Amino acid sequence: MFEQLKTPYSFRKSAQWLWRYLKNGDHSNPTGLKSARVHFEAPEIPQVRLLLIGDLMGLSGKRLVFGEDLKGLAHSCDKVIANLEGPITESKDLVFIKQYNTPDLLEDLDQLASLSRWVFSLANNHIYDYGLKGVEQTIQRIEASSAQHFGTRFRPVHLEKNGALYGVTEWQNRQSPYPISLEAPVFKTSDAEFHILYPHWGEEFCFYPSPSQRNLAKSLLMEYDLIVGHHSHTPQPTEKIEERYCCYSLGNFYIYFDKPMLSRGKVVEVGWSGGNLVLFKESFCQTQFIDKKTLKIDLVGDSVE
Ligand SMILES: [Fe+2]
Repeated sequence: MFEQLKTPYSFRKSAQWLWRYLKNGDHSNPTGLKSARVHFEAPEIPQVRLLLIGDLMGLSGKRLVFGEDLKGLAHSCDKVIANLEGPITESKDLVFIKQYNTPDLLEDLDQLASLSRWVFSLANNHIYDYGLKGVEQTIQRIEASSAQHFGTRFRPVHLEKNGALYGVTEWQNRQSPYPISLEAPVFKTSDAEFHILYPHWGEEFCFYPSPSQRNLAKSLLMEYDLIVGHHSHTPQPTEKIEERYCCYSLGNFYIYFDKPMLSRGKVVEVGWSGGNLVLFKESFCQTQFIDKKTLKIDLVGDSVE
């Protein structure tokens, strides 16, 4: 039973986590960061167009369908980058906080974009919920499907044209050396001119970043050209710092249970030319329950709240 309850947090932090969940999120904004939809498009044509989406939460066997607007957006992008928040495994282990996906997840995602266009970051607090075996099964499934992955010691970086994506995590429910840690030294590759950090970081159920996270973003943006984060399960603002952007959290791409606080997330179109960002465009998506076993995800209006 205790195995099921493992979290990366101290007792105090776990109590705060539960409190934020029960009161439908923490909407306090300790640094007064403005919330606005960001749309930046330079005249140059991007070398590549990516769609970065947030957390794919463990579906425990539920199925996905996608709306036409979201399908159109995915179709217009070369690749879809997502955080796979839980392994793809056949395990029938008792589930509480653990996240897992059944193999039909990949079949469902193929309806949004062909699997050869999906790239999954495995650097998050749940990827090791079923141990090394769960990580290995997940990688085998992904590779057999023609999708790609990054964010672990097996493959830390994803290269796309002359850009690089780095999946890193601040948190792990079960300590393991496999997901790349946010605390790891900067390991920028020389094979790319444009460097995107895709971190699993910050506090869950918060709608704004903390002062320390904003400071961290500032120092990380001295190394990386762009930060697009996740883990909070709620969409957080994007900040422009010295001509570079930090989207603190995309929130969920979908969630497997019906809770309005968690049902809306951001998706971001990103493109670069040489070493320069030439496209950064945010939209919002929402999960809707069609029936007890089926979730529909589509684009929605602009407002965060
Ligand atoms: Fe997470």
